[in-house]
This record gives sequence, structure tokens and C-alpha cells, in this order.
Amino acid sequence: MSQAYKTGLTILVVGSGGREHALAWKLAQSPRCARLFVAPGNAGTAAWNVDIRGDDFAGLADLARREGVDLTVVGPEGPLCQGIVDVFQEQGLKIFGPSRQAAQLEGSKVFAKDLMRQAGIPTAAYRVFDNKDEALAYLDQYGAPVVVKADGLAAGKGAIVALTYEEAVRAVEHIMGGGLGEAGKRVVIEECLVGQEVSFFCVCDGQTALPLLAAQDHKRLRDHDEGPNTGGMGAYGPPVFWNEDLEKTIMDSVANPTLEAMADAGAPFVGVLFIGLILTEAGPKVLEYNVRFGDPETQILMMLLASDLVEVLEACVEGALAGKSLCWHPGAALCVVMAAPGYPEKYGKGLPIVLPDLAPDEGMRAIYHAGTAWVQEAGLVSSGGRVLGVTARGESLKEAQRAAYDLVERIGFVSAHYRRDIGAKGFISRP
Ligand code: AMP
Ligand code: GLY
Repeated sequence: MSQAYKTGLTILVVGSGGREHALAWKLAQSPRCARLFVAPGNAGTAAWNVDIRGDDFAGLADLARREGVDLTVVGPEGPLCQGIVDVFQEQGLKIFGPSRQAAQLEGSKVFAKDLMRQAGIPTAAYRVFDNKDEALAYLDQYGAPVVVKADGLAAGKGAIVALTYEEAVRAVEHIMGGGLGEAGKRVVIEECLVGQEVSFFCVCDGQTALPLLAAQDHKRLRDHDEGPNTGGMGAYGPPVFWNEDLEKTIMDSVANPTLEAMADAGAPFVGVLFIGLILTEAGPKVLEYNVRFGDPETQILMMLLASDLVEVLEACVEGALAGKSLCWHPGAALCVVMAAPGYPEKYGKGLPIVLPDLAPDEGMRAIYHAGTAWVQEAGLVSSGGRVLGVTARGESLKEAQRAAYDLVERIGFVSAHYRRDIGAKGFISRP
């Protein structure tokens, strides 16, 4: 790894998706970042990659000690819920993210719902079941629409919005019948909320939450929000309906009470608090918490953040977030995900990709890699379902959208599937 020496920190990013490429891209721009590692990374982060998997805590901690890593930033929820932060901290290594106990906010829907109920945080009404017959009996009374959720982590497949009673029964049978393994031993059955869905992000130091931005993900595979749910086919932000009042309402009614409740429970929350909300007629209600940056929302956040990310993350780890503020580029950013044909079901790998050159000083556009690999002779190929996150910033949402799709057109990835309507809801949506 030959990197020019600069005074500053050595930083390790854990993960291999588009979110991690965007984080690494932003961290590398900081004058505070002297050296960067991404483990294991993808072809877009090749200059920084080390071949250690995100679940190899011993290997990652060894690397951190050996290379004098000053700060580790964890992308995905898996390592966080499995306690990577605790392992690093026991060895005196600084790491940005929640402890295993605090990561239950994402790792257990029951934990999250019970915490919201106790703290009076607005969320969908719900019941918890660990017995299938009781869950089915409840559905007999309740009917539909209803949302059935596995308690544990299920790689985005744990929540089923059932529009009919029959679908709800099938969801309970599937989840509690072993379809999701241990994650489905308990289910949450909850009220189906109606309204605009929005992802809101804060960074937290255990005591203080500092708002980042809000964005709208596009979870369905096809245009007009049709087709199956995916990890996210694109995002834009900030949403047109976002404003200071709404942000304040969510900080006061959700983010701050969550932080207080976690501190009271002896699990102060450090890291990114990603609040998934629906803006209902009765006000914003929480769908779920995630304890990490979103993917593809982070591609938007990093494109719009003008402040130094290293300083923000350091302040979180040091408990020094109070009084800090952030600067954002004006306008909007938009990310179009190019996926392998067949995603989110079975998809092929090894599909060739040819990328256009972007000017080295290009700050308004980026092609963030997700499932990509560099293969001798074949060159750049796809290696996952979501392959590229083509992202642009503009003075308006319209400009960001135009610039992102112009760039998509210049990418040689012939069989790629992508949505043509990312951001369209931004022109029509009024909650
Ligand atoms: P989750 O795994 O909780 O994020 O849920 C996945 C998706 O299901 C969310 O992004 C929403 O689109 C939808 N969803 C989850 N809970 C509800 C709810 N109570 N009402 C309506 N839609 C929901
Ligand atoms: N974009 C949704 C997520 O990261 O979970």
C-alpha cells in the first residue's frame, strides 16, 4: 500500500458496498485523513483495499493495531450487531458505531418497539408473538392490511406488508415456520402506516444527536414503485417536503428521546442513527431504526456534505458532539443504482463494465461501486446484485437527476437494470 505521507489519521472502513465506497471517497478528501484502508472493499476502493472480511473481528483488530489505525468506521449492520465495537474497544481501539447492546435498536425489532413504547416515541401500534398459533389467531381478529416483521436481522427480507388477510397468514407461516431461521422465532405484527416514507440520519455521541440529512430511498425494483423490494434502487435528497420544522419535530419526538432512553438503559448510542419514518396524517411515525449509514442514501449524504467527515466522526467517538454544526452544499443529490439483471433474485456475475473517465477534480458526480471486482484479463466486472451507484449533485433536484442519468448513459454495462424514475416522487410528493 503506497500512499503519500500526510500528517493526520489512519482510518479503516469496514464493508464492501456502495455506502462504503462513498464513505471512503469522502474520508479520503479530508486533510485529517493520512492513510485509508477499506476491508474488504470493491473495485472502486481498490487503492485502499485489504483482504479481510467484515466478520473477521480478530483480523480487523490485528490490522488496526499493526497499522496504527486511529479510527475505524463500520458500514454494515452485521458486524455492529455481532459486537465489533465491543471487541475493538476492549483492545483500546477507537471505532465509530454502537456497542452490541445499543445495536439491538436494529438487531431486534421487539427491543426497538418496546423502547419506543416506553419512551412515548410515535410508531405503528403493534403486538409481539413467539407462538405461531397465537399470531394467527390475532390475525383472525385484526384482518388486513397489516405488516408482519421478523424480530431479528433478515437482510432486508424480514418485513412483509400484507394487503390481504391471506398474505398476512402466509407471512406468519413463512417467518415463524423457519423461513428466516432464528430471526423469525418472534414476530412483530403491526399497523400498516400510510404516507411518504423518508430516511432521516443523525450522528450521535451517546448524549447528543446531530442531524445529518433526510433522503428518500426507492426500494421497489421497477419504476412507479412496482415489483419486489430490494436493498434500494436509488435515492435522492433532501426530499422536497423536508423543512426545519419537520426536522425539529423529529429531533424532539424521536431522535432525542431515543438517545435518552438508550442512555437510561445503560446502552448509550454512538454512531449513525438512521430513522425510517412514514409521514402520516397524524405526524411522523417511526417504521424502524437502523444503527448505520443507509445504502444508497449515504451516496447522497456524502455528495452533499461540505464539512469534514473525519472531524464529525471523531467528535462522536470522543463524546464531543455538543455545539458542533455541519455545512451542506446547496441543492440536491440523486443516486441511480445499476443492478445486475435478475437482481434481487438470482443474478449473473462477471458481467463486463466499462466506465467513462471523470475529471479528477470532479466533486459534483461520482460512480460509487458496490458489487464490482477487477479480474485479470476481463477487467472490471460485476460481482454482486447492486453494482454501481451513479450519483450527481445539482442546484436543483431536476439538475441532479439530469446529471445522474447523463452519466448512466455513458456507462458501458449493457444488461444493467436500473429505474428510470429515481427522484420523480420528489416532484409530486406532498405528505
Ligand atoms: P423494515 O424492514 O422495517 O424497514 O421494513 C421494510 C419496508 O416495509 C419499509 O421500508 C416500508 O416500506 C415497509 N414497512 C415497514 N413497516 C411498515 C408499516 N408499519 N407500515 C407501512 N409500511 C411499512
Ligand atoms: N436504504 C435502506 C437501508 O440502507 O437499509
